Amino acid sequence: MRIVFATKNRGKVREVQEKLKEFGIEVVPIDEVAEVEAPEETGETFCENAYQKATYYSEKLGMPVIAEDSGLEVEALGGKPGVYSSRFAGENATDEENNRKLIEELKKRELESSPARYISFFFLAFPDKSGLWSEGEVRGKVVREPRGTGGFGYDPLFIPEGYEKTMAELPLQEKNRISHRGKAVERLASVILKLKKL
Ligand code: IMP
Repeated sequence: MRIVFATKNRGKVREVQEKLKEFGIEVVPIDEVAEVEAPEETGETFCENAYQKATYYSEKLGMPVIAEDSGLEVEALGGKPGVYSSRFAGENATDEENNRKLIEELKKRELESSPARYISFFFLAFPDKSGLWSEGEVRGKVVREPRGTGGFGYDPLFIPEGYEKTMAELPLQEKNRISHRGKAVERLASVILKLKKL
């Protein structure tokens, strides 16, 4: 079984490929299938954004497509950056710039850390406009000192609950076992296998 994943984020591709391999599902990044201009991300929730991306690409390609929207919610920042996680330090910001901005925001508040959570929403859209969604979260805290080189995004600053290491210090399989994305994609996979629609 093969499924197209609508993302340009190599970190997401690696994690989802690895997880869905366990279910015998092969994940193909969308840029290996077709060149389609990305839609604007206008949703105010993770769910809305995942739905928009998946249905947009599925209609364009005439095949089932999965898309994901995810982000980090930091308690001390009132839940920010949330759906703006990839654009926290501005449009087209790099992971390093976003991390620097998060550290600055903690410093401004004289905080060494803050409770936080990652959230992930997946949507699998079929060309007939039907679809499936799933969701996952992982709680933890963000800190001011980056550690580790694994993962992507805010991982060097995020310590999952029950761990001393940051997400960027965990091996891929371990991150996938506890992460928002790992949980969401696992839930989606178990339904996909029952559905036998792909
Ligand atoms: P999206 O591509 O619009 O879903 O943006 C997701 C953004 O949220 C990423 O660019 C990261 O900044 C952040 N993010 C989501 N999941 C993770 C993760 O697993 N690790 C680190 N950062 C993440």
